[in-house]
Order: sequence, then structure tokens, then C-alpha cells
Amino acid sequence: MKVYPILVGNKTKETDNYITINSPYDNQAVAKVCVGGENEIEEAIEKALKAFSLLKHLPVYVKANALAQISQGVKERTEEIAHMMALEVGKPISLARIEVNRCIELFQYASEEVKRFGGEVIPLDLDKLGEKRLAIYKRFPIGPILGITPFNFPLNLVAHKVAPALAVGNPIIIKPSSAAPITALILGEIIAQTDLPEGSISILPCSTQLAEKMARDDRLAMLTFTGSPDVGWYLKTIAGKKRVTLELGGNAALVISSLHLKEFLLERAIFGSFYQAGQVCISVQRILVKENFYESFLEEFVEKVKMIHTGNPLDENTLVGPLINQTAAQRVENWIKEALKDGAKLVIGGKREGNVIYPTVLTHTRPEMKVNAKEIFGPVVTVEPYKTFNEAIAMVNNSVYGLQAGIFTEDLNEVFSAYNQLEVGGVIVNDVPTYRSDPMPYGGIKGSGIGKEGIKYAMTEMSEGKILAIKYV
Ligand code: SIN
Repeated sequence: MKVYPILVGNKTKETDNYITINSPYDNQAVAKVCVGGENEIEEAIEKALKAFSLLKHLPVYVKANALAQISQGVKERTEEIAHMMALEVGKPISLARIEVNRCIELFQYASEEVKRFGGEVIPLDLDKLGEKRLAIYKRFPIGPILGITPFNFPLNLVAHKVAPALAVGNPIIIKPSSAAPITALILGEIIAQTDLPEGSISILPCSTQLAEKMARDDRLAMLTFTGSPDVGWYLKTIAGKKRVTLELGGNAALVISSLHLKEFLLERAIFGSFYQAGQVCISVQRILVKENFYESFLEEFVEKVKMIHTGNPLDENTLVGPLINQTAAQRVENWIKEALKDGAKLVIGGKREGNVIYPTVLTHTRPEMKVNAKEIFGPVVTVEPYKTFNEAIAMVNNSVYGLQAGIFTEDLNEVFSAYNQLEVGGVIVNDVPTYRSDPMPYGGIKGSGIGKEGIKYAMTEMSEGKILAIKYV
């Protein structure tokens, strides 16, 4: 069986400790992956500190070329990475290819953004003392960054941290999800083929204890975390003076106030609720439908749910593959059972086979049920009616989370009412909350996190503004 070495400061390294990655679909062993220990963590941090002194002075064109080279390197290995992702995390192969394509474009965007990431000239002659003065305001890299990434987008959510870090001039150490380190390691291998200084990139699968140790380490300037809310908020409490970005979960709502784009709406509602088994932070979890057409929407939606291909991630037609492990599948099954016991109605689904949960639609739920109130991270959606648009807004906001919300409407007043009142990081009009374009600012409020990702916005988070105020004669 293939053994993947870890990457410490741009160099592959075999260690004595391994984990075996098993497919969440059929439990077959996929590969072994080396695990870093104290020594490797120390080596990665030391090398990152050394690399920072070089990386921060690299000319823009060198960074832009390296980022474009990474994009090309990922492109050349598209099929290998997509196949590995399908085995490693059970992501349906067609969706794995979409993720690889997003990553290719993301590094390309970063190679372009780095050329635009200039600064401002600020006039200071606003009073007598300011005469013959002006200022330049420009952003500088902050130092080595620690990125902790989840299993659900094992390539692209690593890219969302690595590309902006390198674009700004910060080395980065990635601690990938222990369930999904292989795609991250392949990306690391591709990055290590560039001329970026040794130490610019480390990909370090390691224990939770060692990840925590890094999160506490004052030599690292920033922690950028994507994953579960509990872990994210805990890490923030131990991160000391580090800058912290948290991209956490949610229970995203879709408000349907109009059926003017009915076919598109149905197609997107299916995709947004169920793709990759709902293991997406912005997966549609709560559908709120205007009462006038609630019944007809539900009927047509359920007809489409019946057609969803569920099961083997290597099957080209599969939309819903397995959940990442048995614990996750059992938890989702239990939440469904609990909702049904408390009065919810099962319209379709509810069945579990191994780690696969069939697409599930529930009605007659209450806001406090786990299937509404907590992040389900499974192929389960609740569909409830509302009377007035303001009531729908209140239902969306009745949540500890606030990542993205979607709204289908033809009414411009509703668009702005939603934009002004929804407590979320992004309002998506005439599409599902699951919509994400990689360069766009992305990040939640309330329990869903702090800070923004999206190339330019992550570059801003990963840099510090410095002003140069000049008096000339
Ligand atoms: C996430 O699940 O956090 C990211 C969703 C995406 O990038 O599409």
C-alpha cells in the first residue's frame, strides 16, 4: 500500500508513525500517511521563520509565477487528485473534479490578485500642519501562519489558506484533517516544486495535542481554522496574541418567496441541500416557503429527491455519497429519529446503510429541534411554511449561526429588506446559500466565525497595514 510522507518545510519526510486512511464508503484501506511528531512540528516552525525573512521580500512577479505554476501543477494531476478525494473522503467523483477545478482557478486568481494588491496614497494636507505631506498606506506580511483544515473540501479549503498566505509573503503550516490528509499532501508536493524558499510550506498531519501546541505557539502569527464551531471557538481561546480567522458551520436557510425561476430553484435546492451528503458549511438545512405555494413546492421538490443517485462515490452519477465516518452517520440518524419522536413528519428518506444516509426531507419541525437548531452536516433538510416575509426573516435569524442565506424573490424591496436584516455574512439572491464563488468574501457572523476568506479578503486578514507619512519641501 502506498505510504504518503509528510511535507516539512518544502521537503518530504517519512516518519515512524502512520495512520491508515480507509474509504468511508466501503471501509477499504486507501493508503498510509505518515504523521508528524514534536520534532517535525519544531522543524516546520523553525524553517517557516527562516523562510519568512526571504518570502516577505520576494518580488511580486516571482510570487505570481509560483502561484500560476501551482495552478498548472494541480491541473496536470486533476484525475489523480479527484480519484484520491473520492476514495479518501467519499466525495462523489463528479464533485471531486469540480473541487479540483475550483482549486486550479483559485491559485490562478491568487496569481492575478497579488499583482493588484497595492496600497493607497492618502492626502494629509487637510489642515495647516498637514501642508506638504502625504501618506502611503500599504500592507505587509505578518509571519508564519498555521492553517487547520477540514475533511469536506480537503483540497480547496487548504488552497483558500495557502494561496493568500503565499501571495502576501507568509509561510504557512497546514494541519489537514486526519480523515483527509492525502489530497493536501499532493498539493504540498506540487507547491514544493516551485522556487518558493524552503520552509514556505509544510503539510503536517499530526495529533490533536500537537495541533493545539502549534495553536498556542507565539512564534506563529496567525491561526486560520475551518471546521466545527466547538473546536474553532476553543482554539481561539488558546491562540494567545495570534490573529484568528474562523470559518465555522451553520444551519443555512433558503427562503422561497417566489417561484419565478421554478426549474432552476428546484435544481439548485436539490443540489444545495444534498450535494456531497450535506457536508458543506453552507448546505441548505432549512427551507422556508411562502404558504401560498408551500404544498406544491414540497410535492415537486420531493419528486426530484426521489431521483437523486445515492451511494458509491466512484459512480459518475452519484450526488450523495457516504458521511465521513460511522460516528457522523449515526449522529445524523439519531437526530432524524429524535425529530420524528418529537412530532416531525418524514416525507422521504431517513434510511441509513453503513455510512450512507439517504436524502431526507422533514416537515412539521420546530426551531429548537436539533435538525433545525444545530448544524446537521448531513443530507437532511426541513421544509416549513411562512406567512409574511418579515416572519421568514425572523425565522432565518432565529439561529446561533449566521453564515449565508439564500432567497428567491422578484421583489427588490425584499432583496434589500433581507440584505439589511439578515444576520449572516452573505445574502444570496435567486440562488441557494450554498453558492460560493472563490474570490468573493466568505465568512460568517455569530457562531459561524470571524474574519473573511476569498483571495483578496484573506490576503487582507493575513497582512498588516503600515502607513508612511511624508513631509516634503
Ligand atoms: C465550507 O463548507 O466551508 C466551504 C464551502 C465551499 O467552499 O463551497
